[in-house]
Amino acid sequence: MRKTIIAALSLLLTLAVSAGEVASPNGHVKVSFSLQGTVPTYQVTYKGREVIRPSRLGLELVNADNLLDGFTVVAEKKSTFDETWQPVWGETRDIRNHYNEMLVELSQTRTGRLMNLRFRVYDEGVGLRYEFPMQKNLVYFVIKEERTQFAMTGNHTAWWIPGDYDTQEYDYMETRLSDIRSHMREAITPNASQTPFSETGVQTSLQMKTDDGLYINLHEAALIDYSCMHLNLGENEELRTNSYDYSQGSDASSKGNHTSHLSPLTSHLESPLSSQFIFESHLTPDAQGNKGHLQAPCTSPWRTIMVSDDARDILASNLILNLNEPCKIEDTSWIKPVKYVGVWWEMINGKKQWSYTHDLPSIQLDHLDYSTVKPHGLHAANNQNVRRYIDFAARHGFDQVLVEGWNVGWEDWFGMSKDYVFDFQTPYPDFDIKALNDYAHSKGVSLQMHHETSASVRNYERHMEAAYQLMNKYGYTAVKSGYVGNIIPRGEHHYGQWMNNHYLYAVKQAARHHIMVNAHEAVRPTGLCRTWPNLIGNEAARGTEYEATNGSKPFHTTILPFTRLQGGPMDYTPGIFQMDMSKNNPNNPNHVNSTLARQLALYVTMYSPLQMAADMIENYERHMDAFQFIKDVAVDWDDSRYLEAEPGRYIVAARKAKGTGNWFVGCTASEHGHTSTLSLNFLDAGKKYIATVYADARDAHYKDNPHAYVIRKGVVTAKSALRLTAAPGGGYAISIVEATKEQLKGLKKLPARCQ
Ligand code: NOJ
Ligand code: CA
Repeated sequence: MRKTIIAALSLLLTLAVSAGEVASPNGHVKVSFSLQGTVPTYQVTYKGREVIRPSRLGLELVNADNLLDGFTVVAEKKSTFDETWQPVWGETRDIRNHYNEMLVELSQTRTGRLMNLRFRVYDEGVGLRYEFPMQKNLVYFVIKEERTQFAMTGNHTAWWIPGDYDTQEYDYMETRLSDIRSHMREAITPNASQTPFSETGVQTSLQMKTDDGLYINLHEAALIDYSCMHLNLGENEELRTNSYDYSQGSDASSKGNHTSHLSPLTSHLESPLSSQFIFESHLTPDAQGNKGHLQAPCTSPWRTIMVSDDARDILASNLILNLNEPCKIEDTSWIKPVKYVGVWWEMINGKKQWSYTHDLPSIQLDHLDYSTVKPHGLHAANNQNVRRYIDFAARHGFDQVLVEGWNVGWEDWFGMSKDYVFDFQTPYPDFDIKALNDYAHSKGVSLQMHHETSASVRNYERHMEAAYQLMNKYGYTAVKSGYVGNIIPRGEHHYGQWMNNHYLYAVKQAARHHIMVNAHEAVRPTGLCRTWPNLIGNEAARGTEYEATNGSKPFHTTILPFTRLQGGPMDYTPGIFQMDMSKNNPNNPNHVNSTLARQLALYVTMYSPLQMAADMIENYERHMDAFQFIKDVAVDWDDSRYLEAEPGRYIVAARKAKGTGNWFVGCTASEHGHTSTLSLNFLDAGKKYIATVYADARDAHYKDNPHAYVIRKGVVTAKSALRLTAAPGGGYAISIVEATKEQLKGLKKLPARCQ
């Protein structure tokens, strides 16, 4: 009898230390940890409903015992955190960081190695990460694969793009989880550098919706000194080994620089788990196929799970930013949001070029005097054209003019795997760097630097200090960098640990020079802009540039804020006013899949402190009434409200401009269009405002009538309601400005139906 009691007691004790639970501050989100046998697992619920079924945690190492099983719990510690901080720039003036935390300290009995799991639970989701404390038995180690699982509760709808080690510039697919496999080939469209890895591999941030209305989002936060995580879907019982070589499989992917690195999805599992659809982490490999070189003490990035029964909560969440470290730049006074125009769209649409000459079969940077070669006459970054853009920027209140193609090397910049491809120092003969910067400054405008690296990254690092010094010398405060093509050092990937370290190095070095960075083709953001707010933008998705070539699906901008924008702002470059590319360049037959009114809305729905008016001057000059919205709209905000949202369908956002009482509203809709009944109750009660509505005309359509818009002006208050319709592929934008009595004279109340 005594023996039985002791056995029961010790079982209870074991249970007590091998399981734990922590809930969010409002109690809606709950995470529980438990050892199943000796395997660490976790699960997540929201308002009592399952979100993540029991899922395993752990890693496989190269030439070392795994970190998947054999664990006992050493300790479990709980704490609470609540602080409000102010971002240097952002969607709101204040951000509350409020979570409950559980730290589970594990020891692997057979090796004595220590691994901790830290869970932070917010009202809108969970962050969890691995921590490897200082210890004797685990110091230097190499990751073979991280085996974090996310077991779904059903065959959810997902908005996904193919998992790829080198690009995110894909159009989104909307399918059931079970249909990812059959749609993968269709989803993999060509790119300059691409390495898809699995017919069930997708990228994060991944947005899903359950049949009973839960919105679930998987991503990561604080990706530092680690490789980028993708998700690979396993479909239950078979949990099959996926042996299809995607690098051979499609025309598009055959341009990739690697064979695939497929590994059995769940080969380490002892038994199938209780879910039909299990995502597992799949890290980006390095040139040798390894997934990360670590040295304890260290941590993994946070794996994030956002959940809500209201899609707007996903958009409003600051979970990713909150999981990053506070700002590390002491004096941030030089970091300022930027609205800019550029010598750009005429090159993207093929009318003009980055290069200077067609004459030379080969470019040897140190041995070529460009003043001796014959120009082809299509070089866009010439003194006269740049001055035209400076004048336009000054006239309409823009901060900067981006000039691409200013520096030598563009004749053979792409596809040659050329190491010394640019020097980031030497302008073409027709770009007078001093005179143009002086001219811009004299008009209250500055130039935006451009550093296309052609993915020759050691070359960029060799020239970086001199390049940033050149920027300081001429008064450039921001650089758009780019990583087009396969990475040099050859074999590395855009999203591997080596490159992730480079991107952050570039941002830190830039901070020393008081330079803001907007990196294109870099890894998708994970909230690092909280720590390094000079990381003012990124591309890392399919931007507007595709509208000039292949087009993007009309619902694209109703998804990006749920996915790509979770980690930080995107340099989406909206503001296209001419949808028919042949009008810009007779040789370009493409069409922009958007109405003009929606192009205005994107300045509000696609949050970014860096916003471009991307079209050419001549296209703006034909629509100066609509261009007024781009001139007026703010790029920094005291407050943001998501009024309506449904991924793949529509997003309506309202934002209050920093330091003013003015509001801006934007709506972007899919090919189904969208009708809103908006209450303006976010305005200050008792005040009168002048609203200007820029909406699709009744017969507008993204395909055959994209330029049809109406502009209506009138008085609104907090009691006003507006009924507005976005056309298929359309949208609307509203500016709402606090008005004096004088300004209100003669203006009528804006009718609820004003379109
Ligand atoms: C791709 C970038 O996304 C685009 O904006 C840029 O103009 C070209 N690379 C050239 O650097
Ligand atoms: Ca790009």
